[in-house]
Amino acid sequence: MNDQNLMEKIVSLAKRRGFVFPGSEIYGGLAGTFDYGPYGVMLKENIERLWLQMFRDGRDDMYGVDATILMNPRVWEASGHVSGFSDPLVECEKCKRRFRADHLEDAATCPECGGKLGEARQFNMMFKTHAGAMEDESATVYLRPETAGGIFMNYKNVMDALHPKLPFGIAQIGKAFRNEIAPRDFIFRLRELSQMEVEYFVKPSEWQQAFEEWRRMMHSFAEAIGLPSGMVHELEVGDSDRAHYSKRTIDFEFDYPFGRKELWGLAYRTDFDLSAHEKGSGASLVYLDEETKEKFIPHVIEPSLGVDRTLLAVLASAYREDELGGETRTYLALAPKIAPVKAMVSPLLKNKPELVLKAREVREVFKKVHPAIAWDDNGNIGKRYRRQDEIGTPFCITIDFDTLGENPDLIDTVTLRHRDTGEQERLTIADAAERIREAIS
Ligand code: GAP
Repeated sequence: MNDQNLMEKIVSLAKRRGFVFPGSEIYGGLAGTFDYGPYGVMLKENIERLWLQMFRDGRDDMYGVDATILMNPRVWEASGHVSGFSDPLVECEKCKRRFRADHLEDAATCPECGGKLGEARQFNMMFKTHAGAMEDESATVYLRPETAGGIFMNYKNVMDALHPKLPFGIAQIGKAFRNEIAPRDFIFRLRELSQMEVEYFVKPSEWQQAFEEWRRMMHSFAEAIGLPSGMVHELEVGDSDRAHYSKRTIDFEFDYPFGRKELWGLAYRTDFDLSAHEKGSGASLVYLDEETKEKFIPHVIEPSLGVDRTLLAVLASAYREDELGGETRTYLALAPKIAPVKAMVSPLLKNKPELVLKAREVREVFKKVHPAIAWDDNGNIGKRYRRQDEIGTPFCITIDFDTLGENPDLIDTVTLRHRDTGEQERLTIADAAERIREAIS
């Protein structure tokens, strides 16, 4: 399967099985927007939950916030986004299409019509709107381009409310908006995206240690969501390519079907943001070290992870096709921890009330292990397995006449089918429940 083909198959499966739909599709869509469907929401939430567990809740030095998308525009003036959050834009003089100059191989010729491209100019990527009834410049507000801004706005509030000692961090998951010149590659480059971000505040002398700690954490997270380590690469970003606020950045790149591209970023933002906001707002953002009586602005390490790019990496690395039982099948080899559905329970035959009753009872047992246990009694058992394979359900459990005691040795046992191999084993209900628990814990 070539890479273009693989991408088409992923997009098609995502739509067909209810993971990701084009935004406002019946009106022809809107470039750079996608909606998550039923299984997409479950997968996304599982990824976010795991991130929260590893980056926030599993640690004593982390706090959460949920800040607004609309903020005082001075936030983005102070942070440098109003003046500097831009990409180089070129326009074709013939067909008027616009491109990102740094994405073009030939900076002079239009890749669509061969026309002459104009001079590159900087295009600010922040979406502008107006707060209130006035639509003049004084009412301009921006949709936040990174969730980080809301974290910096709450640094002082968290300090005043909880008095944490350095080092500590604030984590947030939320939407960010970027008016990308050329949104593309499905959910890779979006205009409306979700980020999972941490701003970790440290003493200036301790930034390197914290940088290394979060670097390891990002690799652990990649492993936890099932990304093969050979597909995740670090790129030390050079001086001229780093964002204006960063003194060191490592991009975590992933081998997407369309090439090796940025998945996440880890940046050392120094005291750039807090100093800029102190200057911009006049509020003191100084930290007092109670032991040494030293006063300083904390420095910041920022692991920043895009949810959508993570989900795409998960889908791309999990997509499989193989031959099973003489048929070609498609399945997603998702890590059980993040799979939308953990197991499907099914009576062997739909028209045997005693099987259906028992299967419903068994499903309730498994639901105590995890709520995402599906029920399927539609079509033949092979079709049910294929449907679950395509959404990445790790286990299918079938209740048959032996479960009811037709063979007394097998009473209260079920067949447990493994997604990746299609192999089945006969287990007691309790052992099957334990298998599921082990796989997802
Ligand atoms: N707060 C730092 C920051 O926003 P960034 O490198 O611009 O840094 C961080 O973005 C992450 O957000 C990226 O590594 C990527 O995962 C995600 N991201 C950025 N732009 C995106 C876009 N247009 N569509 C989808 N995800 C995007």
